[in-house]
Amino acid sequence: MLELLWYKNAVIYSLDLETFRDGNGDGTGDFDGLFNKLDYLHALGVDTIWLAPFQITPNKDNGYDIADFYGVDPRHGSSGDFVNFMHKANQLGLRVIIDLVVNHTSDQHPWFIESRSSKDNPKRNWYVWSDEKPSDWDEGMVFPGVQKATWTLDKKSKSYYFHRFYDFMPDLNTDNPEVREEITRIMGYWLQLGVSGFRMDAVPFVLESPAPGDQEPVMHFEYLKEMRAFLQWRKGDAVLLGEANVLPEESKNYFGEDGEGIHLMFNFFVNQYTFYALATADIKPLIEALLATKEIFPKSQWAYFLRNHDELDLGRLTDEQRQKVFERFGPEEQMQLYQRGIRRRLAPMLGNRQQLELAYSLMFALPGTPVIRYGDEIGMGDDLTLKERDAVRTPMQWTRDKNAGFSKADKLVHPVIGEGFYSYTHTNVEAQRRDQGSLLNWTTDLIRLRKECPEIGLGDWQILDTRFNSILCMSYQWKERKLFTWHNFSEKAQEVIITAEEAGSTRLIDVFNNIESVADEKGNHTILLEAYGYRWFRAPSSV
Ligand code: GLC
Repeated sequence: MLELLWYKNAVIYSLDLETFRDGNGDGTGDFDGLFNKLDYLHALGVDTIWLAPFQITPNKDNGYDIADFYGVDPRHGSSGDFVNFMHKANQLGLRVIIDLVVNHTSDQHPWFIESRSSKDNPKRNWYVWSDEKPSDWDEGMVFPGVQKATWTLDKKSKSYYFHRFYDFMPDLNTDNPEVREEITRIMGYWLQLGVSGFRMDAVPFVLESPAPGDQEPVMHFEYLKEMRAFLQWRKGDAVLLGEANVLPEESKNYFGEDGEGIHLMFNFFVNQYTFYALATADIKPLIEALLATKEIFPKSQWAYFLRNHDELDLGRLTDEQRQKVFERFGPEEQMQLYQRGIRRRLAPMLGNRQQLELAYSLMFALPGTPVIRYGDEIGMGDDLTLKERDAVRTPMQWTRDKNAGFSKADKLVHPVIGEGFYSYTHTNVEAQRRDQGSLLNWTTDLIRLRKECPEIGLGDWQILDTRFNSILCMSYQWKERKLFTWHNFSEKAQEVIITAEEAGSTRLIDVFNNIESVADEKGNHTILLEAYGYRWFRAPSSV
């Protein structure tokens, strides 16, 4: 009963409460604000919300530094507000997944405060310590250029603690059975409050056993199975969606050799080659990336995305490929980050509506679950004057009123974009709702269309040769249904041919506008692709 696997065809919308909508007028977004915007998300057509961390936090890494896993940070409201929000979301048929950030805690977490208090404290082994300064103390940083070390001296207990990320986020020791038990308690708590699963933060680092010195860390992939078993025992259809920017051959370890590991993983590999294709119109490496990640288990799934709340990570490209993407999408130094990425939003990066539509159409046509980021449905911009990744974390632009309709406060958690083409006076939900041809209305149509094409998430897919190095054609088949998509990465219009034999039909229906193509007397369908054009066709016998 694969079609019952909801996550295979979900459309996920990711948002950060902090910048989505401020209900109580204190300048920071909250559950009350989100509660009132659920109708908007429902009408947009998404069916799953991924909430960024909202638990108690000193907020030095956008909430990924958690100081108490069992509550709501007062800036975002109360646990009562969370339950109210969940109730309404469920009533509207919206599922909610939340971040599970258990690689590390904040250094303000009581566990760490205890752990560092003395070497014989019962919580000592909840974190990773070394008495000596490890030889690799300044290696393996996730944020090079900003982060200086991975082992830092704790003056109090005179030893070094490990932190894969910033020094204010010490790594939990997930080899410790007590820590694992506490993690199941955290999962159980939020499942009991109604969430449908977790976006699991920093998965490879959760699984590794770091050791001081230059040894290769041991990876505990079996731990993912343990987590999944617990999750499904508590809630049969709940899922884990993993953040793991790994090579295709490594991803098999995460899905599990029998498909009983993680349910979904973001396809970072294909993401990077998508941007390479958008930058150069050369789709060969993208095709290779798609094929390299093709074989997965029937119950496993890839999640596809364009941009997220972090930098666009291009670390998997060759230096030459990365340079080409930088040249096209992030030419200025201030647009780049951590020596590997671009800290811009999608719309300003691509710079024109045609390419934006192409990118979105492609993402929704990739064989997996699409994930969109708040604000991208209206083409929001970025603010490069903000530090690091904050550039892409500005408040949602609802209206042309004060603070973009995000908040009534005088001072906001992050400034709204108030200048230029991407200013809230120009780019906002209200204006786009009134405009038939707006990106918002186009995206709403795309989401509806994707929902009418379950074969994309469930079916078998192939790449068909188009004879053009810049045009990607994919076919999908599930049960009786057959779909074809074309994406033209080049600025030149082209005509492509598909034979009635290949298409399995002398008639094809363009699902975007219901126009029919009838094969000519030679048995060919000629498909016109505009500059950056995209077309989706269905063989009618298969509707
Ligand atoms: C993940 C998050 C990122 C965060 C990091 C540490 O990579 O996406 O925003 O800074 O984990 O939790």
